[in-house]
This record gives sequence, structure tokens and C-alpha cells, in this order.
Amino acid sequence: MDFLQAIQPERVPAHVAIIMDGNGRWAQNRGLERAQGHIEGVKAVRRITEAACRVGVRYLTLYAFSTENWNRPQAEVNALMGLLVSCLHNEMPLFMKNGIRLRIIGDKNSFSPEVRQAMNDALRQTENNTRMDLVLALGYSARWELTEAFRQMARQVQEGKLQAEAVNADKIGEFLATSFMPDPDLLIRTGGESRVSNFLLWQIAYAEMYFSPVFWPDFTEEMFYESIVNYQNRERRFGKVPAKPAGV
Ligand code: FPP
Repeated sequence: MDFLQAIQPERVPAHVAIIMDGNGRWAQNRGLERAQGHIEGVKAVRRITEAACRVGVRYLTLYAFSTENWNRPQAEVNALMGLLVSCLHNEMPLFMKNGIRLRIIGDKNSFSPEVRQAMNDALRQTENNTRMDLVLALGYSARWELTEAFRQMARQVQEGKLQAEAVNADKIGEFLATSFMPDPDLLIRTGGESRVSNFLLWQIAYAEMYFSPVFWPDFTEEMFYESIVNYQNRERRFGKVPAKPAGV
């Protein structure tokens, strides 16, 4: 089946979020260093970013480095940091050609000055692009994000800038790192695990989940299109009853 052809353009998810899992196992299965899996993972990032742009996804959020990833062996963390810096630099032509605005959610202060500099340069260079936002979750975890949001809200209540009664779901959303975009419509996880791993816990309340057994470096454009067709074949009810109850 040609999944690209099967996509209904008017029902493309506005926001797709991806947990890119399986780089390490991809490498280990080939007797390679885990870092090699991340290098291949960057190629998949390029492929899927272009594919998302092609079909009209407006926001693509990639879980690239979690708060917990700091606990990996130092050599792997260093390899990921090196890759991140070179990626932000080398992919600039791709971002500019496709009108991609880069965004970063996560604790930027946890990164070295060199990495922060590369992040800030890339953010600045792409800030006028409007076709798609590529949101990299870096130094990110949902509990970190929620903790920061609640702390900031508590501070504002304390200072009299926010009334406790004004706190509702929309207000909480304004304090999150993702306040500039809608919640994900579709959450994809590659690599065969069926868990959320501290990613966008608040925002995925009504996201459709799509789990692929394929390791991230092997995830192709066609597989991405397939996930969108699969999403389009589902009925999203947001807690309500079906539009047309079966058998009526
Ligand atoms: C999960 O695979 C992937 C990561 C922890 C990092 C994802 C990073 C990339 C795709 C490269 C682009 C991002 C940067 C930061 C340059 P895993 O290592 O957990 O795989 P495993 O579950 O098989 O061990």
C-alpha cells in the first residue's frame, strides 16, 4: 500500500510527538558502539522531519534527550552532546529549505555553555520560519516541566499576581514549556516498548498512541506515513459518545 497516497490532507495531525527509541539496541545488534546507533538516529531524524513537512504536520516534537539520559555512561552522553552540536549546525540548510523553525523544550541550563550556544544560534537563525516547528525535547522530562510550572504558579499566587481560583487546565497549559503549541494529536514510540517514559504527560491526555516495534534508525518515511493513515482511521471521541453509535 502507498501510505503517502492514502493520507487525507485535510486530516493530517497538527502535532505529532515521537519517542525515538531503539538506537542503542540497533547498534548492539550489529556489534557496534551505542553511539553509532545515535549517529544513525540522526539520519532518521532528517528523514522523518522532511516527511512530516511534506504531509503538512505543523508541529513535530522529538524526545531527543531526557533528564534521565544524563545518567547514561559519560562516553555516551559526550557522544550525544557532540552529535547535538553538529546536528544543529549541519541541519541548518534542511531547516531553512523547508521553512522549519526550531524550538527547544527542556532545561537548557543543564547543558554546557558550548551546547547552549549552538542551541541559541539555531533558535535565532530559524525564528522567522513558519512552515513547521521542529520541537526538540532536550534535558526534558514531564515531571521536571510540571514541577517548574507549579513552582512558578505558586510564586505568582504568593505575589498576588495569580488568583488560586483562576487556576484551571488552560491556565496550567500557559505555564508549560509547550504553551506555544497545541497538544499532540498523535504520539509515536519506536523501539518496541509500550510506555510514555516521562514525556509530555499533561499534553498527551487525548493523544492517539502508536507503538512501532522498529528501532528508530530503521524507521522509514513510509512507516511514518503508515502511522498517520492509522491515526486517520481512528475515531477520536475526547471522552464523548461516538458521533454515530454502531448499529443505529
Ligand atoms: C533512545 O534510544 C534515543 C535516545 C536516548 C537519543 C535519541 C537521539 C537521537 C535520535 C539523535 C538525535 C538527538 C541528539 C541529542 C543529537 P536508546 O539509546 O534508549 O535505545 P535503546 O532503548 O535501544 O537502548
